[in-house]
Amino acid sequence: MRAAVVTAFHTPPSCEEFPTPEPADGQVLIDVLASAIHPRVRSQADGSHYTSVGELPLIPGIDGVGRTADGQLRYFVLPDTNIGAMAEQTLIDPRRSVVLPETIDPIVIAAAMNPAMSSWIALRRRIDFRPGSRVLVMGATGNAGRMAVQIAKRLGASHVTAAGRDAEKLAGLAALGADTLINLGQEKATATSELAAVGRDVDVVVDYLWGEWAATALSAIVPARRDDAQKLTWIQVGSITGPESPIPSAALRACNLHIVGSGQGSVSPRDILAELPSLASEITSGHYDIAARAVPLARVTAAWADAAVTTDRLVVIPSAR
Ligand SMILES: NC(=O)c1ccc[n+]([C@@H]2O[C@H](COP(=O)([O-])OP(=O)(O)OC[C@H]3O[C@@H](n4cnc5c(N)ncnc54)[C@H](OP(=O)(O)O)[C@@H]3O)[C@@H](O)[C@H]2O)c1
Repeated sequence: MRAAVVTAFHTPPSCEEFPTPEPADGQVLIDVLASAIHPRVRSQADGSHYTSVGELPLIPGIDGVGRTADGQLRYFVLPDTNIGAMAEQTLIDPRRSVVLPETIDPIVIAAAMNPAMSSWIALRRRIDFRPGSRVLVMGATGNAGRMAVQIAKRLGASHVTAAGRDAEKLAGLAALGADTLINLGQEKATATSELAAVGRDVDVVVDYLWGEWAATALSAIVPARRDDAQKLTWIQVGSITGPESPIPSAALRACNLHIVGSGQGSVSPRDILAELPSLASEITSGHYDIAARAVPLARVTAAWADAAVTTDRLVVIPSAR
């Protein structure tokens, strides 16, 4: 079969012939229709993700849409494995998959499930999210942040603030439900005072940035709280601006601040799988704006470079030439 193959962590994958894998007990072979290049997939392919065990060669791809021999269309999530989804075929555990209606677009599902899952699971599994809550999304201009704005609204947030760097992309979030926009690319003092104003009564922060921005935002928000006893839940979901953040210790004493993370490990595989059907049906409901672009498997090396700069989520299509 043809597959995207990584043979060295410092080079991108290339399209090569690879032996078709043999299913073990509980596995079935699936024809892959679409699998997206998420940041998580890029860190899998360069060996930097915290789950990486350093084994090569590696076919990247952590999830996708495919068709099993019985004709069912499925969205699947793979375990940590060297045989990923960016191939003509891969091995799935049907228990880690969900059957999809024939009406869906495989490219849209492959593009949206991972970024959507980040906030869907964070809000539904990591905290006691209440309709009517006020939400701030830090890093709202990426694929996951855009979905977080839309999902927070769909889950009943009364007010959503989108904070992001790219002014044009940020402006587009108003049409997706963001009530307030904060441009993190403007002068830092202005952005910080806008964060403080919104932070006076925010309930939940979905944070894709971490690094300096989490510390800066908390330093501004905590002294501005209208009521120190009001719970402020900060969900650490991504670390685009740095894996470490110098959070001031006083922030944790001065108000009712709860910092939690959401991702593989802090949410059990069973809980993640339990959310797949509802999330798949949510995404196929037609309520979401999803930026996806298909690329043939044969162009995977070029797509890897593109994925670092484009806004669209690139989706690898094994059958396309
Ligand atoms: N824990 C989970 O369950 C989970 C699941 C999915 C994703 N994630 C993580 O979430 C993060 C975002 O994923 P994604 O799919 O949204 O990635 P993405 O589509 O590549 O978006 C990344 C965004 O980061 C923004 N950015 C880069 N540098 C920035 C800076 N210095 N200040 C502000 N914004 C900056 C860019 O915004 P501009 O366009 O404004 O420059 C870009 O749009 C990643 O770290 C990913 O690993 C976590």
